[in-house]
Amino acid sequence: MKKYIVGNLKMNLLTKAERDRFLKSFETEFKKNNLSDSQVILCPPVIYLEKFIEQLEKTGVGVGCQNIFIEDRGSFTGETSPVVVKNIGGEFSIIGHSERRKYFGETDQIVNEKIKAALRNNLRPIFCIGESEEERKNDLTFNVLEKQLREGLADVSAFKADKLIIAYEPIWAVGTDDIPESDSIMEIKILIRKILTEIYNNELAEKIPILYGGSVKSKSAVQVCVNPGMDGVLVGRESLIPVEFLKISDIIDKS
Ligand code: PGA
Repeated sequence: MKKYIVGNLKMNLLTKAERDRFLKSFETEFKKNNLSDSQVILCPPVIYLEKFIEQLEKTGVGVGCQNIFIEDRGSFTGETSPVVVKNIGGEFSIIGHSERRKYFGETDQIVNEKIKAALRNNLRPIFCIGESEEERKNDLTFNVLEKQLREGLADVSAFKADKLIIAYEPIWAVGTDDIPESDSIMEIKILIRKILTEIYNNELAEKIPILYGGSVKSKSAVQVCVNPGMDGVLVGRESLIPVEFLKISDIIDKS
């Protein structure tokens, strides 16, 4: 399967100058890499979405947002319509990131609505799931992931499900420097595939990419992605440094 390398730029690049420096450096570094079978995707702050789409148009780099609203239009002050994201050329949206769940109260039901809103508008959801430190300590990881998957995908028809991308991001590994062992990531991948097979069928489950996210760096890319056989990564902090982000892409692409 094709590999997916997703950069979540979060709420960074605070000036136009910083944004433009990032884009220039990203384009320069991207040209040096000769990726054979990988899709690189950047998810900038939504206010820069159009600029990123225009600037990266001819590079083959996909652009997505970090969040969308459940409705397509209307009186929802401050929200981002999935229709607009699609119409300006966005292709993806991260959905259910642990920071949205933690700081903005996103429940599995809201995440489910957002996944449906994305698919309805032909955006590919990058659906994040993951357990907290406490859940891990209490041996609840499998139960938590199963609940997040089943509730997040409730009523998501098989017809659209091949557009899904799942990102397993253990919350305790996001923004820390703690990463799981390859074996435990592999175990989680098997669990996710099994649940997807139960919800849909084996053929479809095999088509849905399963990424790893949480403190991915070039020096850990083999441990968290290559060795456990993941289909790519979701990268936070390191995606702000184009040379590092593309080093991660290169390692995964050549593996
Ligand atoms: P991190 O973030 O790479 O900075 O840990 C990952 C994420 O939040 O997607």
